[in-house]
Amino acid sequence: MKDENVVWHQHQVNKAARAEKKRQKPCVLWFTGLSGSGKSTIAGALESALHARGQHTYLLDGDNVRHGLCGDLGFSYEDRIENIRRVGETAKLMCDAGLIVLTAFISPFTKERDSVRALLNDDEFVEVHVATSLAVCESRDPKGLYKKARAGEIANFTGISSDYQAPSDPEIALHTDEQSIEQSVEQLTNYLIEHGYINV
Ligand code: ADX
Repeated sequence: MKDENVVWHQHQVNKAARAEKKRQKPCVLWFTGLSGSGKSTIAGALESALHARGQHTYLLDGDNVRHGLCGDLGFSYEDRIENIRRVGETAKLMCDAGLIVLTAFISPFTKERDSVRALLNDDEFVEVHVATSLAVCESRDPKGLYKKARAGEIANFTGISSDYQAPSDPEIALHTDEQSIEQSVEQLTNYLIEHGYINV
């Protein structure tokens, strides 16, 4: 709980000044979807494309963050909520730094995703639903985790023994069963240009 004697200090160099130097409008591209849906792959491909265009980015990836910042957390309901809370606060700081932040977390619960949205300004949270079906994710099973989950060797596995609440009105939906990674990157890049986050 925050101490009542801790007061916010307004520093001179602000978000707008930092963003202007980077020639971009900072935002958080929040990728959500099942394990194996392609969140990390597409977010990584988009980051490469943005980097090549001269944009300033940072990709926060679930599997990596769980080695450090969230290394003490598991996959219980409470731990997933805390995982997303920490990531949301980190993404907010990076957005404040003027970056285009990409996050790749299952983030299965609508309430937690909406909490992150509420941390940011109106046009700073861009929810990206990687809408790959469970059947396709399970057939890919890149880490062999669905097989283990079906065998009862992993508890609380999203889509099998733990809920995934798909976004009802995301800014962007990627229908990856029907489109390539390149097409998804193009769709995302066009969105960023059309909404003034980056220049043509
Ligand atoms: S989240 O639910 O808290 O947002 P996060 O994206 O950080 O999840 O981590 C998901 C990754 O952890 C999966 O891609 C998978 O590799 C691994 N994992 C291990 N156990 C589980 C589980 N029980 N449910 C889902 N993913 C798991």
